[in-house]
Amino acid sequence: MDDVAIEVSGTGGGSPDALVLVLAEDDSTPRSDGELEQQLRGLAEDGELRGELGRTVVLHTDGGSTARRVVVAGIGKRAEVDADAVRTAAAAVARRLRDVGGTLGWTLDDSLPLSLAEQARAVIEGAVLGAYSPGRWKTEERGGKPIGKIVLYGGDNGVGDTAGRAATVSKWVNWARDLANSPPNELTPEGLAKRAVDLAGSNLQVTALDPQQIDELGMGALSAVGRASVNGPRLIVLRYEPPRAKRDAVIGLVGKAITFDAGGISLKPALKMYDMKGDMAGGAAVIAGTAAAAELELPVRILTVVAAAENLVSGDSFRPGDILRAANGKTIEITNTDAEGRLVLADALWYARKEGATHVLDFATLTGAMEVALGDLYAGLFANDDAWRDDILAAAQTSGDHTWPFPLHRRYRRYVDSSYADMKNSSELRQAGAVLAAEFLKEFSGEGPWGHIDMAGPGFLERSRGDYYTQRGGTGYGVRLIVELARRLGA
Ligand code: BES
Ligand code: MN
Ligand code: ZN
Repeated sequence: MDDVAIEVSGTGGGSPDALVLVLAEDDSTPRSDGELEQQLRGLAEDGELRGELGRTVVLHTDGGSTARRVVVAGIGKRAEVDADAVRTAAAAVARRLRDVGGTLGWTLDDSLPLSLAEQARAVIEGAVLGAYSPGRWKTEERGGKPIGKIVLYGGDNGVGDTAGRAATVSKWVNWARDLANSPPNELTPEGLAKRAVDLAGSNLQVTALDPQQIDELGMGALSAVGRASVNGPRLIVLRYEPPRAKRDAVIGLVGKAITFDAGGISLKPALKMYDMKGDMAGGAAVIAGTAAAAELELPVRILTVVAAAENLVSGDSFRPGDILRAANGKTIEITNTDAEGRLVLADALWYARKEGATHVLDFATLTGAMEVALGDLYAGLFANDDAWRDDILAAAQTSGDHTWPFPLHRRYRRYVDSSYADMKNSSELRQAGAVLAAEFLKEFSGEGPWGHIDMAGPGFLERSRGDYYTQRGGTGYGVRLIVELARRLGA
């Protein structure tokens, strides 16, 4: 698994297989050097060259330029250009050039309302994420030729560093997408643990606790959820210890990894149940984000805990009415076995605190209610600490993983009050399902800053999002956010 190679070049120079010029809707032709101008003006007059976001026009230059092909990429109205617009344009180019591959040249444009470094980052992310195909399991791969190198024209060394980091992070985003798209017969909790253990290296330690060790720790919630499947649960633990950590802080990343969520005895309807192979996307994101931080050698410690289980139905299933005892000693009345994510996270959150996490953030495809609220673009963030919430939101904003704050409040606690136990895991009220789940998790978040990201919407797509995510399936949501957050905490 290699990063796409990055090069920056003052101006011209080299000869990419395709050279990209961006075109804003405000203009009729892109900025270009002499020889092409005539040809471009002609196309603009014919109405072929337009700057709508996502539009691409390919010119074969026959030596009329340094590159054999010039691609004019629309990026919409100049005043509206943001990082997502550049990512979307780059993704459209990458998909358009699938038959070409090789070296892509991109001309950075200082007339856009984005710094050259921000543009470069967005170009790399858009091209790498846009080129991704979820069709790994097709026997006849028609994936196209890969882009091996991207040359950024008009940048300096700083731009090159930013772009290089973006290439590494984007590779890990696609790695997380591969996991989310993996079929559940292939990616079991044990299979996921193996994938994580494979990542171990000099600065990254990885272990996985098996069902017996999970029971020994008193993790009655994770254990119950995973019990019905012959593919038993795992608690996957990654420790990234950089040689020179800047602060005492230990980021605790916690991920939900239900490798398939049938709902248990509170069985889901058949429609789209197959998408519940993606219910481990939070776990994949924290593993990939940790691996990316380790590869970039960010100077901040990370402790990552992934609760992996398969929520199935069998004679040994946990039941509605059961009362479980979680590792922190609290008792939980099960009112719905399909509210399993909060159960496995309960024990993983406890473990992260026990092992020394100071700033905890969990990622989970937790509630359908969150998807109803925010659709496929934004995830919801809940936090018990204002400063930690602001750090997470700021990192999210730069990263491209869209995140919006939601409330916690003492008076929501009654939503999880149980007549029999310390709490129940769901409610028959059709109110604030995502908040209820967050209130539940808060009971297990321990002492110190904690945040919870419900990524049920943007974590796994049912269809193209119309931006740089044009494919069904996993998005790798969270990986970029994690790296940006770790980068800021290490700065
Ligand atoms: N994994 C689902 C949530 C989900 C739904 C993620 C749709 C992505 C898309 C979760 O385990 C679940 O089933 N939640 C239930 C909770 C309910 C029973 C309280 C839900 O949201 O319906
Ligand atoms: Mn469920
Ligand atoms: Zn689930």
